[in-house]
Amino acid sequence: MKLANLSAHGRDGASFSVSGLYSRGVQWCALVVLSMLVASIRGDLFSKATRTKADERDLRNSVFDFIIIGGGTAGCLLANRLSAISDWKVLVLEAGVDENIDFDIPGVPSKEYRPILWNYRTERNGYSCLSRPGGSCEVRTGKVLGGSSVTNDMKYTRGSKVDYDGWHSTGALSSLDWKFDSVLEHFKSIEDNGDYDVLMNSHYHSRGGEMHVQRFKHVDRFMEIFTAGFTEMGLRTMDINTNVQEAVVHNQFAISNNTRLSTNGAFLKPVRHRKNLQVITGAYVTRIVVDKQEKNVEGVIYEVEKGKERPAYAKREIILAAGAINNVRLLHLSGIGPKADLKKYNITPIVDLPVGMNYQDQVTIGGLAFVLNEVPIVTEADIISDFKTWFQNRNGPLASTGINQISAFIQLYENFNAPDVELALIGNFIRSDKFMLTNVSVHAAEETNMPLPYYNLVNINPVLLRPKSRGKVMVNKRNPKYGRPVIQANLLKESEDLDTLVDSIDIALQLLDTKEFKKSDIKFAPLDLFPCDRLTNRDQWNCVARHYTKAMSNPVGTCKMGENSTDSVVDFQLRVHGVEGLRIVDASVMPTHARGGIFAPTMMIAEKGAKMIIKDWKENNGHYYSRR
Ligand SMILES: Cc1cc2nc3c(=O)[nH]c(=O)nc-3n(C[C@H](O)[C@H](O)[C@H](O)COP(=O)(O)OP(=O)(O)OC[C@H]3O[C@@H](n4cnc5c(N)ncnc54)[C@H](O)[C@@H]3O)c2cc1C
Ligand SMILES: *[C@@H]1O[C@H](CO)[C@@H](O)[C@H](O)[C@H]1NC(C)=O
Ligand SMILES: *[C@@H]1O[C@H](CO)[C@@H](O)[C@H](O)[C@H]1NC(C)=O
Ligand SMILES: *[C@@H]1O[C@H](CO)[C@@H](O)[C@H](O)[C@H]1NC(C)=O
Repeated sequence: MKLANLSAHGRDGASFSVSGLYSRGVQWCALVVLSMLVASIRGDLFSKATRTKADERDLRNSVFDFIIIGGGTAGCLLANRLSAISDWKVLVLEAGVDENIDFDIPGVPSKEYRPILWNYRTERNGYSCLSRPGGSCEVRTGKVLGGSSVTNDMKYTRGSKVDYDGWHSTGALSSLDWKFDSVLEHFKSIEDNGDYDVLMNSHYHSRGGEMHVQRFKHVDRFMEIFTAGFTEMGLRTMDINTNVQEAVVHNQFAISNNTRLSTNGAFLKPVRHRKNLQVITGAYVTRIVVDKQEKNVEGVIYEVEKGKERPAYAKREIILAAGAINNVRLLHLSGIGPKADLKKYNITPIVDLPVGMNYQDQVTIGGLAFVLNEVPIVTEADIISDFKTWFQNRNGPLASTGINQISAFIQLYENFNAPDVELALIGNFIRSDKFMLTNVSVHAAEETNMPLPYYNLVNINPVLLRPKSRGKVMVNKRNPKYGRPVIQANLLKESEDLDTLVDSIDIALQLLDTKEFKKSDIKFAPLDLFPCDRLTNRDQWNCVARHYTKAMSNPVGTCKMGENSTDSVVDFQLRVHGVEGLRIVDASVMPTHARGGIFAPTMMIAEKGAKMIIKDWKENNGHYYSRR
């Protein structure tokens, strides 16, 4: 046991500092000191004589073995795994609300999710996102129990072997565990694959895990036409999760009974009854309390009501899983980050680490769209009836995401077995009788106003799967605690990123020359590409890419794993360099993208992370530090 300081800052900025007994793995016996801590945080010191039974209960109830910050994609999975050990008390603190069935209808477009998003934007930079509002791009991540797994497109793609293998670092033996052949078992242990043809490949796939993945059964005519078009261009229909470089894919999704299956639904809901697990929603964590001398974590400060601070203490570990953007804000507020930057914001640095550097997001562009002919007329009554069908028996068109089910993965240059671009399709319905004659803005072409399965326009978004550009995230200077983090995304900063996207547009345009497209009378949509309308060919697409840039909101890299604290934030066991008792387990630790979405990789990271934590505390008897 040892003495430590825990200080909390009240709303008025006053600072309290109290000595407290703190120990990890040792029987907790500091009720008296804890009471002082809580009292000081409340600002009304009370003696043992005046302490009520309720106060004592509050204290005892704020001590946990593990505290998980962020009940998102990774957080919910971690909560399941750690609370499976019944003598561990686990707390999950999630800033958002509980998940609601309305978010789980596959056909509902994601613009409906605004109330459950952190509505962030990139900083303007003068070379990308130019024609987006304010010259900046939206970055949308989920603020809800289940996190971005409630607001994402549910697509289940793992990425390429070559990228996982590239995370390996010759100086660190434990990095070998991140090579593809090693992580495959963690993908499989959470998987419950529902498509027999996919499952047959048992090297890659498995069943019996909590996360059910499957294709939607609702297939429409245009899905078949687009698939045939890509096939005519030479792509084979394949399962993209078997390490192939090119394919036209009928995607699998995280769904169960044609309903979104978030990590909350798959991992947390089924175990919410566990007595050793507490989940608090609407709980915004504002600080991780780190002992300045010992460099170990003691607990967290969170707020359920703005300005009203509450403490929670961790006996074993704090696990940060607030996502690649919010992790940065919280770590910086806690004194963990680049020393020079923190000083600029008047934050006392405790540990100097490159938190927030190495930001990467996948990027795509608007402006490329095809017009469909002979689209059946859908009335409002039809749609209402389709909703009824979905609610009654989880069937019909709304039990699908329309043309979004089809993707083409394209390899443009590299010699190894991996794609460079995903041509992602998304349908939209444009209400215009003279659609072919009118100029429709890129914005109007993108802003879905009908559920996804009803469409007469198909936007083709070429997604750059492994961007070269790097950015940076920092806290908001004016309002570090509650203000939007500053995201310098630097999208398309590297000219190679732009070139790859524009090269892939040439490929997408080849669809128009296929027999299949000609037969079906699918045409290029003459969108209003202002201010790029006067340009032609490659100049035009370069311009469109810079003006109608879109951030995919798949951020990674800000808490990158690696060998040392110059170059990375966590080690290959996901422990924060130079801090005891703090791990980061979510998409932020990925050194790069893995040429796919990041939903499946994030679940894999959480599964692997949970196994490492359990191993450290069970098999190694809590000798967490001995091997550092
Ligand atoms: C629109 C969209 C579509 C996408 N589609 C796909 C797709 O189809 N396939 C794919 O592979 N990937 C997709 N992604 C990406 C992927 O789903 C996410 O990036 C991934 O799930 C991130 O997981 P995470 O655990 O790192 O973060 P999150 O799931 O975002 O979880 C972080 C959680 O922490 C909470 N939190 C943050 N700060 C605090 C705080 N201070 N206190 C308490 N709680 C806090 C948040 O509210 C959130 O619940 C998509 C992303 C978006 C935005
Ligand atoms: C799917 O959901 C519907 C509607 O709630 C329900 O009637 C049906 O039994 C479910 N099917 C399965 C296999 O769970
Ligand atoms: C469409 O836009 C082009 C270029 O901006 C313009 O020349 C043309 O007149 C517009 N057509 C209509 C019908 O508005
Ligand atoms: C830190 O790690 C990086 C990447 O592995 C390496 O290039 C660099 O030399 C290391 N620096 C030190 C000081 O060890």
